[in-house]
Amino acid sequence: MLRIGIAGLGFMGMIHYLNYQRIRGVKVAAIATPEPERRAGDWRGIKGNFGPPGEQMDLRGVETFASVDDMIDQANVDVIDITLPPALHAPAAIRALAAGKHVFCEKPIAMTITDGMKMVKAAAKADRRLLVGHVLPFFPEYAWARKVIDSKQYGEVIGGAFRRVISDPTWLPNYWNAEKVGGPMLDLHVHDAHFIRLLFGKPKSLSTTGRMHGDLAEFWHTQFQFDSGATVEATSGTIEQQGRPFDHGFEIHLEDATLVFEFAVMGEKQGYLCPPTLLDSTGKVKEAKLSGGDPMDAFQSELKEVARSLAANETSDLLGAELALDAVEMCHAQSKSLATGKVVKL
Ligand SMILES: NC(=O)c1ccc[n+]([C@@H]2O[C@H](COP(=O)([O-])OP(=O)(O)OC[C@H]3O[C@@H](n4cnc5c(N)ncnc54)[C@H](O)[C@@H]3O)[C@@H](O)[C@H]2O)c1
Repeated sequence: MLRIGIAGLGFMGMIHYLNYQRIRGVKVAAIATPEPERRAGDWRGIKGNFGPPGEQMDLRGVETFASVDDMIDQANVDVIDITLPPALHAPAAIRALAAGKHVFCEKPIAMTITDGMKMVKAAAKADRRLLVGHVLPFFPEYAWARKVIDSKQYGEVIGGAFRRVISDPTWLPNYWNAEKVGGPMLDLHVHDAHFIRLLFGKPKSLSTTGRMHGDLAEFWHTQFQFDSGATVEATSGTIEQQGRPFDHGFEIHLEDATLVFEFAVMGEKQGYLCPPTLLDSTGKVKEAKLSGGDPMDAFQSELKEVARSLAANETSDLLGAELALDAVEMCHAQSKSLATGKVVKL
């Protein structure tokens, strides 16, 4: 039985808790969060943009702590699952690793490359695993794209355009604070940066144009350059209008096929603007019939991969810390390019 301690019981802490209940061989044994009512099981005040609403929970059998450090020092757990605000990931992870725990940390791995590198070094020193919660590859459309690409049935992947543009999430605390969350670059686009890194490797350089919100990137277009010559771009950021809280999609080019997909939440409606579809070189248009569109299922798959990787004492191709660190490096390079108007080398 893998015993988990969740650090920070907010939206993601709740989503992780609920999904651990759906996985065999895993038990949430401890929770650390400052809110006394949440430690008492009253999760009704938790707000997010998917999943079930917070409810009154029965936390019998779960040790609760007001302080993450106390949980790390005192709880009988194998893994610390960090669902704290991003600026707190590094100190919590480094302390947990030094205490001999494995760490599974929500994205972004850290706010800075320096902090992320310290986390990677702490994991190596402690000989513990450090996994990072990049859930996008587990979403059915993105998993489908990976599967088609990996099959090599349509040749090599030669390019892609990725899109993630949302209404300004005014309900998220510190969203536009560069030290605490980092705006849409580190909070939102880091998902696509990670996926691009997964499909194409690390870019050699990139250039970004767009608009700023104070010192932070607000809405932008990036072109990435790779040694392979792949043509890759991403559009991401926020819009002021509140009517479209979520929108993501891609067009991925292979030698012998193109994969297209876009999903959005608009007002009260949500659904595909373009269903996941494969265009082949004979002119055929094949819609992929994918099971399950509930983001909760993607989190269940992600946490299953955490449990598998830790039980087998193997790294995870999708959740590895080095990949997550490259994604943060790409985001910072994009911000720098946007702010300076220059091409940035990685
Ligand atoms: N993968 C995804 O799709 C996704 C979606 C949302 C959030 N996230 C990530 O999850 C993480 C948490 O985001 P969230 O939306 O759940 O935030 P949140 O604000 O809802 O929850 C954070 C929790 O941490 C607690 N906390 C804050 N400071 C603390 C401290 N010093 N000690 C202990 N607890 C403390 C807060 O009280 C709160 O309970 C972030 O890294 C975010 O980027 C990922």
